[in-house]
Amino acid sequence: MSKLTGSKKATQFTESVIREMTRLNHLYGGVNLSQGFPDFAAPAAIKEAACTAINEDVNQYAVTWGARPLREAVAREFTRRYGLPVAADEQVTVCCGSTEAMMATMMGIIDPGDEVVIFEPFYENYGPDAILSGATPRYVTLHEPDWTFDPDELAAAFNDRTKAIIINTPNNPTGKVFTREELETIAALCRKWDAIAISDEIYEHIIYDGRQHIPIATIDGMADRTITMNGLSKTYSVTGWRVGWTISPPSLTGAIRKVHDFLTVGAAAPLQEAGAIALGLPDTYYTDLAEAYRRRRDTLLEILERHHFTCYKPYGAYYIMTDISAFGFPNDIEFARYLVKDVGVAAVPGSSFYKNAATGATKLRFCFCKRDETLREADRRMAKLVAATVH
Ligand SMILES: Cc1ncc(COP(=O)(O)O)c(C=O)c1O
Repeated sequence: MSKLTGSKKATQFTESVIREMTRLNHLYGGVNLSQGFPDFAAPAAIKEAACTAINEDVNQYAVTWGARPLREAVAREFTRRYGLPVAADEQVTVCCGSTEAMMATMMGIIDPGDEVVIFEPFYENYGPDAILSGATPRYVTLHEPDWTFDPDELAAAFNDRTKAIIINTPNNPTGKVFTREELETIAALCRKWDAIAISDEIYEHIIYDGRQHIPIATIDGMADRTITMNGLSKTYSVTGWRVGWTISPPSLTGAIRKVHDFLTVGAAAPLQEAGAIALGLPDTYYTDLAEAYRRRRDTLLEILERHHFTCYKPYGAYYIMTDISAFGFPNDIEFARYLVKDVGVAAVPGSSFYKNAATGATKLRFCFCKRDETLREADRRMAKLVAATVH
């Protein structure tokens, strides 16, 4: 057999459906409500900080595990908000986005045969992260309309081989914000089975209607068994900068840092300097950010409901999961292709968030991290969709 093939690991997952939708969108000139990146400007202060750092020649490798000012800012802000002490030197590792933070974490802690519990629908990277790190994923379903899990089903997913559980709150794609009670249930299982909680908190500040973000690291007994990840991408509207980080118990930091070092050496040095400035923005920055996203959420909810989508209202992050049964298409992929090609709006097929594609076949995810005129243009284009397909 020819050796000019990809590895077994690489053949176990497909290319990203989300990024494929973005490419199709370019091809058909659509309105891109698929991939979660803002189409508006990043804060001027942090753009200036990045330019200043480059002009001041912060242009060589930063310390592998992250420039000190950014690591210290990460530690300081986590402690200020949640009261948990974090040591920048022993616990914070800066990576190329939280995407790399997740990969470095998984590769750093997983041995072949270890199991990792993943809630579905899940952010699509977690599947390949598990495969590449050699983990066996165990999926537990979040049930609409409010995306709760069955505690017995969760308990049944844990066993002696469980190394970790991945939590993402506020959640992509559902907009769910995990409650304290839910986190306590998860934490009890982590303690019982000596498992690690890997908590993706990238949407920490994008939260609505008085809901509160609770890091699982702050639940009793969890600080020394939680790896928290976050980044600049969503909070500061700089998804292209690729700066993220982990906060880990000192006992796990060394493993993460070694993998990170050999994967990427380090994140962009001048952008780390700007990141330290970003984390110092006043609290009003974060409340304004959440309020602006709440308005966009309400705008897109109104648009989608008017065009006959059944919407699951999100309480955090910047996506709306919808049910598309009303349109009578055979599945989500065909509907998503039709929507981008003939209507001119890109969204993400629900099946890309599920292990079993059939479970997501009636769902479609839209994002609303877009300017008002972008959302209004999607509205105009969808007039065609309703006329053509709703029976
Ligand atoms: C849940 C979740 N985690 C991580 C990421 C990627 O973040 P980063 O840009 O820091 O790699 C995303 C981006 O959409 C996301 O939705």
